[in-house]
Parts: sequence; structure tokens; C-alpha cells
Amino acid sequence: MSDQLAIFGGKKTVTETAPVWPRFSDEDIDAATWALNEARTKRDFISASFGGEGLEAFEGDFAKFLGAEHVVSVNSGCAAIHVALMAAGVKGGDEVIVSPYTWGQTVSPILQANAIPVFADIEPDTFNLDPASIEANVTPHTKAIVVVHLFGGPARMDAIMEVAERHNLMVIEDCAQADGASYKGKRVGSWGHLGAFSIGNGKNLAAGDGGMVTTNDKWLWEMALLFGHHPSRQGRQLEDPELREYIDSCCYTYRMHPISSVIARSQLKHLDEWNAERRRNADYLSEKLSEIPGVAPPDVAEGGEHVYHMYPMTYEPEEMDGLSREVYVKALAEEGVGVSAYVKEPIYLRRRYQEREYFSGNGLPWSLGKREVTYAAGDCPVAERRCAEQEMNLGSTAWYEDCTELMDQIATAFRKVAENVGTLKEREGELSQEN
Ligand SMILES: Cc1ncc(COP(=O)(O)O)c(C=O)c1O
Repeated sequence: MSDQLAIFGGKKTVTETAPVWPRFSDEDIDAATWALNEARTKRDFISASFGGEGLEAFEGDFAKFLGAEHVVSVNSGCAAIHVALMAAGVKGGDEVIVSPYTWGQTVSPILQANAIPVFADIEPDTFNLDPASIEANVTPHTKAIVVVHLFGGPARMDAIMEVAERHNLMVIEDCAQADGASYKGKRVGSWGHLGAFSIGNGKNLAAGDGGMVTTNDKWLWEMALLFGHHPSRQGRQLEDPELREYIDSCCYTYRMHPISSVIARSQLKHLDEWNAERRRNADYLSEKLSEIPGVAPPDVAEGGEHVYHMYPMTYEPEEMDGLSREVYVKALAEEGVGVSAYVKEPIYLRRRYQEREYFSGNGLPWSLGKREVTYAAGDCPVAERRCAEQEMNLGSTAWYEDCTELMDQIATAFRKVAENVGTLKEREGELSQEN
């Protein structure tokens, strides 16, 4: 291998590629084919209006997997969060505390519920909500907390539940990136009052578009069915006489397609083994990166089991002569390591929040608020610094098989860039201008 950086004409370091994801085994394909054959005689294998055999078997298996009592399957992670908020009793004008350092779809459902997002800061190590900052943002109008387990790493749920209990708040976990992760021996999605999962777009359980709402509370499960499913299923399964009054009045019929549920059920059997392999690859890479200047591997909350849906790192410019992240990332890209900032700007600094311009410009949901909630630079300094200077992310990882060779090559690329910091620094001006 030449020591010259690829950005200056040297040889590219990374030649290995990650396995293809999502992956569908013969077993998954057989399961989907079986379901389609069943659909010739049983309608509930092609539409889940009534719930049905395929869908409810998956819900049962996922509940067991999670160690939760109840599951309602829906058509996306975003829908799952929306249903969970509605089930939790979040009403127009209520405040909901949430991380500004996340995928936008953690927050969109709060707006869909006409509630007002209030952003608390993150921890510099886990990148998830800081329990102390949550507490500092509680007001008499706060109704709930939406806690995201970003990148597959668990938030400190014990401390967060303590804050919630002190202030009588509902907790909804956004587990879209954390299928199968756990904290202190308990799966994420079973800590809060409600959990919300995604099985879409390359998630660790990637069966097709879909999501799950999870809870240990029968009444919340009935509420989730009431908002998320077809009135036919509600009529069959709701028991609470008061809730039955609402059947067919305000439901989003966000039901999951039965074929997705059948594929998800088939894949669920392998989720733990895939996650263990993701963890093994990530730990191996972290060990190597921890010896290289300029980059810090991700931390995990003590007692947490990360599932590395993504692999986030921290750029340390002070160890790289102050080289800009932009040029560092360019040099890595030429070596074959595609690294980018996943969250480019904290959610509250985005234009729509600054202008409060959602839903046809009627000022909703903020016009329903009981006090003025402001969004300003400096609100969440840890999240702001991370977005502006520190974050580097390898994106969705797909490391569910042995990727040792790829991990070695990635680490070699980081080392090569670190060893050539002098040359990069000399030509920094020129490199930052190039597209
Ligand atoms: C953190 C987070 N929350 C929610 C969602 C929404 O999930 P879905 O795309 O299934 O609606 C995503 C999707 O990527 C996500 O990453």
C-alpha cells in the first residue's frame, strides 16, 4: 500500500464492501409465498382490516422478543410514534420534550398531534437525551417525553423514567434505529409507557415498510388499536366500553401489510444473532480506532447493548492540527470510507421551526400553546457542537456478518489520514474549495 493519500493520487485503501442489506433468505421468501397462497382463501393475509392470523402471530412474537405485553403493528415508524402519542393522551397545545439531534421523523409526529416540541440537550457520550436537560425543560404544560435511541444505542432509560415519574409524564421510546437493543438487561421499547419501532428502509429488522407500537398496559394497547387500526379490528378486539364508543370515529388506519408482518416474523428469529455480529464488528473497529488520533469511537451507556444500526464517531480536530472536518472527510472518502454528518443541524434551528411554518401557515401547533416556546441558537450546546464540528457517521452499517477485513481496511484508512495530517494541512485551502 502506498503511503500517499488517495486524495493526492495514492492508492485507495478500502476495497472490501459490506454485505447487501436488507437480506431475504429462502426461508423469508417461502414465508411470503406461503402467505400469498393463504390469501387465496383467507383475506386477512392480504389486508389486515380485521387484524388476522399472519399479523397477530407477528405481534405475539415481537411482544415475546421484547418482553412487553402488547404490540400493535402499523405501517411505519413515524406512524408508530404518532399512534403512541395519541394513545398517551397528548393533545393539541401540550408540550412534548424531545431530542434535537435525531432524524426529523422523531419530531414530525409531535407536530402531527398538534403538540409543541420542546428540545432538551443530548449527552456528549451516548448522543441521546440528557436526563438533567429533560428535567430543566419540564413546565406545567409538559405531557410527554419522546426518547430516541439513536443509531441503535440505548438512552439512559432508568434516569429518564425517574424524571418522568417525578413529573407525571408519559414516555414514548423511538426505537426505529434500535430494533433489539437493550439497557440494563431490558430491551428498549419496554422501558417507557409506549415504544415505537420501524422495520422499513434498511433498519436492523428490515422486512419492508412497517412499524410497531409496544406497551405493557392493556388500556394503552386498546388506545393504540383505536387510533392505528381499522374499525373492523377495533370492533373485534376492544374491550373497554368507553373506548368502544369511539370505534370508527378518529382512526388513521395505519395498519401494517400482512405480508410485511409475515416476513418480519421470519426475520425476527435471526435478529439477535445479526445484532451480535454487528456489535462484534463494531467493537473490533472501535478498538482499532481508539488508538488513532483525530477520531473517537462511539460510547455506549453503561449497561447498554448497542445494535449499531449506524456507527457514529466523533471528530477531534485538536488532534489533527485543527484540520477542518470537511477536508478530513474528503480525504477519508478518497480512501474509500464514506463518512458524513448524519444530523447536519439541530432540528430547532431548521427553517420551518424558526419560521413556525407548518400545516398551511396557520401557526399550528404553536398557536395552541399555553406559553411561547422559543427555538434559539445556544439552546442545546452539546447537540449544536456535535452537528457543527464533531459528528462523523458511517451510515447504515449492514455488518450482520463477519466484516473483519472491511473493519481492518477502514481503520487503516483512518490511520493513513492521521499520519498525513501535515500534507493535508498544507493544502487545506485548496482542498476546501474543490467540490
Ligand atoms: C430515529 C427515527 N425515528 C423514526 C423514523 C421513522 O421510521 P419510518 O421511516 O419507518 O417511518 C426513522 C426512520 O428512519 C428514524 O430513523
